[in-house]
Amino acid sequence: MTEWQKSDWRNKPRIQMPEYLDEGKLSAVEAQLAQYPPLVFAGEARTLKSQLAAASRGEAFLLQGGDCAESFGEFSADLIRDTFKVMLQMAIVLTYGAKVPVVKVGRMAGQFAKPRSAPTEVKDGVELPSYRGDIINDLDFTPEARIPNPDKMLHAYTQASATLNLLRAFSKGGFADIHQVHAWTLGFTDREESERYRAMAGRISDALDFMQAAGLTSENNEELASVDFYTSHEALLLEYEEALTRVDSTSGKWLAGSGHMIWIGDRTRQPDGAHVEFCRGVQNPIGLKCGPSTTEEDLKVLMAKLNPENEAGRLTLIARFGAGSVGDHLPRLIRTVQAEGANVVWSCDAMHGNTIKSASGFKTRPFDSVLREVQEFFAIHRAEGTVPGGVHFEMTGKDVTECTGGVRAVTDEDLSSRYHTACDPRLNASQALELAFLVAEELGQTAQTRHAAAV
Ligand code: PEP
Ligand code: CO
Repeated sequence: MTEWQKSDWRNKPRIQMPEYLDEGKLSAVEAQLAQYPPLVFAGEARTLKSQLAAASRGEAFLLQGGDCAESFGEFSADLIRDTFKVMLQMAIVLTYGAKVPVVKVGRMAGQFAKPRSAPTEVKDGVELPSYRGDIINDLDFTPEARIPNPDKMLHAYTQASATLNLLRAFSKGGFADIHQVHAWTLGFTDREESERYRAMAGRISDALDFMQAAGLTSENNEELASVDFYTSHEALLLEYEEALTRVDSTSGKWLAGSGHMIWIGDRTRQPDGAHVEFCRGVQNPIGLKCGPSTTEEDLKVLMAKLNPENEAGRLTLIARFGAGSVGDHLPRLIRTVQAEGANVVWSCDAMHGNTIKSASGFKTRPFDSVLREVQEFFAIHRAEGTVPGGVHFEMTGKDVTECTGGVRAVTDEDLSSRYHTACDPRLNASQALELAFLVAEELGQTAQTRHAAAV
C-alpha cells in the first residue's frame, strides 16, 4: 500500500460537503490556510490520547460538550467563558461520582460545519439549499446567503484561534481554580428547586475542605488551580481539515492541526468514503458516531481502518441511539468490539437520538429522554461488564430555552423565549449541570458493581 497523503480523500466518494462555484477562490483560500500556523500541537493530541486510553480502561472519564454549531454571529468572550465554566462544574461533579480524573473536551474552536438530513429546505413554498454551518454558508433564508463561500474558512480559522487562545488562558490563568468552580456549583444547589443535588454538593465541599486542611491548596498544587482542556469538532469540511494538516516534526506523523480531537459523523462514516479516508491518516484521537444504522460488519471494518494498531485512546465510539433504543443496538456493537479485542472508549451522545418537534413547532430534546439514554447506556455496560467511558452533550453556558425539562422546568411554551441555536437544541447551564449530578449517580453505581465483581 502506498503511503497516506492528506489529499487522498479527494479520490473517494464524498457526501455532505459543499460544491464551491469559484474554484480559483477555493484554491486561494486553501493555500492561505496551509500557510497559517496549526491551532494545536501534536504533543497535546498525544497527551489527550493517553488520557483517553485511561478512559477506555475505566481509569478516567470523558466529558465532551459544547455547541451543536458554533456561530460567527454569537461569538463573544462571555459565551466562551460561560460554556467553559459549566463544563468545569460538571467535571468536578463527575470526578466525585467516578472517582477518576475527567478528561474535558469542548465542541469548541472549530465546530462550524454541519451535516444535514436534507440538501434543501422549504419555507413558505420557497426552496433553498440547506444551511451547512457558518464555515460554509449563512443561516439567512435567501438564495445569496446559502451559496457556499470559501472565504468563510478563513473567518472560521480566526474565530477558532481566538477561542482557543481564551480557553488556554482560562485553563491556566487562575479562572479554573477548583474551589472557585465548586463555589459556582453551590450557587446552583442552594436554589430551592435543586435541593435533590445539595447532599452530593455538600460532600464535595467536605472533600475540598479536608484536602485544604491536609495542606493540599491551590497555591501549592497546580492540579487544583488549573485544568487541561481540549478542543474537538466534526471533521466534515475536508478542504479546511486538509489545509491545516501538517507533519509533526517530533514523530514524523500527520496531525490534523484544526483541533485536538476530531470525529466522523453518523452520516459520513461510510468505510470507503472521503471522511474515513481522511481521518485514518492523522494521529489525533478520533471519534466515530454510532447510530441505529451502524452494522456490526461496518464497525469491524471501521475499527480496523481507523485503528489498525489497536492503540488505546485512538478511537472513541460515540453511541447515539435514542432513549428506548439503546438496548436494540448497543449490546450487539459492544459484543463486536469485544470479539475483535478492540480498545475503544465508549461514550454516550444522549442528544442526537432524542430530537423531536415540539407542539409549538420548535426542534427540541426533552431532558428526561436525554437522561434516559444515559441511564440505558450505563445499565447495558454494567450488564455486559464493559466500561462506560464518557458522555457527549450539546450544551451552552447561556440560559437558553431549547431543551425542555430539568428542575427549572423549561416548558414547550417557553421554547420561543430564548431559542438561539444555529442548529440543534442545546442543554442550558442549569440542565447541563443537573445532568452531571445524575450521571455522577450512575457512575457511583457502576463503581460499586465493578468493586463487587472484583472482590
Ligand atoms: C453532531 O454531533 O452535531 C451531529 C450532527 O451528530 P450525528 O453525526 O451523530 O448526527
Ligand atoms: Co448536533
